[in-house]
Amino acid sequence: MIPVEMTVNGRSVALEVAPGSFLLEVIRDALDLTGPKECCLEGECGACTVMVDGISINSCLVLAAEVHGSAITTVEGLATEGLSALQAAFLDHAAAQCGYCIPGQLVAARAFLDVNSHPTRAEVREALAGNLCRCAGYEQITDAVLDSAGVPS
Ligand code: FES
Ligand code: FES
Repeated sequence: MIPVEMTVNGRSVALEVAPGSFLLEVIRDALDLTGPKECCLEGECGACTVMVDGISINSCLVLAAEVHGSAITTVEGLATEGLSALQAAFLDHAAAQCGYCIPGQLVAARAFLDVNSHPTRAEVREALAGNLCRCAGYEQITDAVLDSAGVPS
């Protein structure tokens, strides 16, 4: 087992992980944060997206031992005092249908907006290209991201 210390949604966490444990399974199974979803497990869908030190990554592809010392943000960390403006915009635009992809979409969008606070529609689509939505709610998701940034959609 490998000792790992990290900050998850602002909380310090210390645990021991198996060398082959992926970050997604540690987040979901050991930390009981089930926002990040298990889906393709191949880096293709983005359902498992979390931020590591502000950068969105597919947590199904990253070993938990690799993020020792890092700050992790899951969708649970986006809401502090009630829903964030980004989450509220998703609600306003009915961007969630079955909802399975939405935690990943939200985290990817948050990481993107943190480096581009006034994006174009094309930039939002490109930023979220790795987050697939089987319900095909792409237009509503894009509208929500733009709205939360104060950009007319
Ligand atoms: S579950 Fe990680 S990218 Fe699909
Ligand atoms: S809302 Fe159903 S997969 Fe995106």
